[in-house]
Amino acid sequence: MPAKQLVTFLTHCQGRVAAGLEQVLSELQVSPQLQQAMAYSLLGEGKRVRASLVYAAAEAVGSQPVAADAPAAAVEALHAYSLVHDDLPAMDDDDLRRGKPSCHCAYNEATAILVGDALQALAFELLSVGDDTGLKTDRRLIMISILARSAGARGMVAGQMLDMEAEGQQLTQAQLEIIHQHKTGALISASVELGALTDPDVSTDQQRALAHYGRIMGLAFQIQDDILDIESDTKTLGKPSQSDLSHVKSTYPVVLGIPQARKLLQQLQSQALTALGGFGASAAMLRELVYFMIQRDH
Ligand code: IPE
Ligand code: IPE
Ligand code: MG
Ligand code: MG
Ligand code: MG
Repeated sequence: MPAKQLVTFLTHCQGRVAAGLEQVLSELQVSPQLQQAMAYSLLGEGKRVRASLVYAAAEAVGSQPVAADAPAAAVEALHAYSLVHDDLPAMDDDDLRRGKPSCHCAYNEATAILVGDALQALAFELLSVGDDTGLKTDRRLIMISILARSAGARGMVAGQMLDMEAEGQQLTQAQLEIIHQHKTGALISASVELGALTDPDVSTDQQRALAHYGRIMGLAFQIQDDILDIESDTKTLGKPSQSDLSHVKSTYPVVLGIPQARKLLQQLQSQALTALGGFGASAAMLRELVYFMIQRDH
């Protein structure tokens, strides 16, 4: 069970990011089918871990939540796109997501491809449009660059390509680590970095420490996802369990075995907490998120 303080924090972050995203979607007028399918994929039962990391990192460096609203919405839009495309028949071919039929099942494949494209573009639009949150243009530009890097051929897309190429292959732990750091770690770590950048005066040391924390947690998050794919059930997960096994995916449990994968998670847990050593009480939520992301059951 997550700590009560974290539950309150997560609920608050979920509400904030949903309100922002709902507002943006409600303003779309061109194609009702596209709008509905985007809302279906973006506003479903997600944990909003990446948005929460943006808010928690912002809190750690002393920023107000309002400064984190745009980057939090942006990382969730980008993440939702990645899930829609990840489930496509040409990719993981999974028909359930967030407890409901995947986007290409609820609508159709072409719509799902376009939903992903639109959500990705929306992420960058959200970061680039000026508002009254006090985020200066040069700061936004750095955020856009970090998010772009984490999403594309230096980040998630590269990881997804390697993940597909590795199906049926026997990988070393080092090779698998590279896949996980790219397909999942990059966006998680970018979320933390964006949160840190909400403070115009954030120090280089703080940025480095938070980026380090983000990289550790990005890897840990996907290792736990791999373990849950084996150990949990479809109902709890809201997505098909045993999906990795059926696609002969390379995962941590396959390469290391479950006990070793768990041991590695424990090590990553303490490394992530150590990375926050220079922060005081303001990093309390980032600390709680370490336990939540590693010990979650879905
Ligand atoms: C699932 O991410 C995909 C991975 C990168 C492991 P989440 O577990 O954060 O999915 P939601 O957003 O809560 O549905
Ligand atoms: C997902 O990895 C990485 C993404 C970029 C979406 P998985 O394929 O393991 O994610 P799930 O298990 O389908 O959520
Ligand atoms: Mg996948
Ligand atoms: Mg998948
Ligand atoms: Mg998975």
